[in-house]
Amino acid sequence: MATYEPHDKFYRKARAMGLPSRAAFKIEEIIARNRLVPSGAKIVDLGCAPGGWLAILARAATAGGRVVGVDLAACRNVPAGAITIVGDILDESIAARAANELGGAADLVTSDLAPKLTGIAARDQARSRELIDTAIKFGCQVLKPGGAMVAKLFMGAEFKEVIAEFKRHFGEVEVTRTKASRPGSSELYVVARGFQRRA
Ligand SMILES: C[S@@+](CC[C@H](N)C(=O)[O-])C[C@H]1O[C@@H](n2cnc3c(N)ncnc32)[C@H](O)[C@@H]1O
Repeated sequence: MATYEPHDKFYRKARAMGLPSRAAFKIEEIIARNRLVPSGAKIVDLGCAPGGWLAILARAATAGGRVVGVDLAACRNVPAGAITIVGDILDESIAARAANELGGAADLVTSDLAPKLTGIAARDQARSRELIDTAIKFGCQVLKPGGAMVAKLFMGAEFKEVIAEFKRHFGEVEVTRTKASRPGSSELYVVARGFQRRA
């Protein structure tokens, strides 16, 4: 059985590199493996706090790029090349604000959104589903045609429906895991490419 080790090698590596969270290594692995960040990329990072993904994305986008993070919570250290919006992605005005800050359509939208868990399975699942549905809708509003999306998912009853929704909007959809996920974690990542704007 997998054991939970709070200060595992990814935690220690994040501390040593001055990264705000071990989650950074998950997106680093996914974008490197899938070559998702062209130089000068415009990126929106949903659920960005405390800023691990943001740090990796801002570095990958290089000096000519722009990364806009959105979270209910503020990030303490926002990397150069990134800005953050403190807000709820369920608020429909946030997508327009993010697009405005980006200064053009996005090459990539990432989502590490996770609800605060209540321990009530049905409620937590419904909240996770609402967040992933909103993230997809958000992506459809800000991505350029051909753009890509990476989103965290948990294996659950509605997994197939969520994947079908990604397939409605993207030409290529793949589900992957990362080495940096905690042992025994049910988290999965959708990598969707070839965004198609639907009429
Ligand atoms: C796992 S954490 C993200 C970690 C981050 N990717 C990093 O690397 O540091 C999930 C985040 O989702 C955010 N979140 C949950 N519901 C949200 C909502 N409705 N709107 C905006 N952010 C939300 C939480 O505040 C939390 O910071």
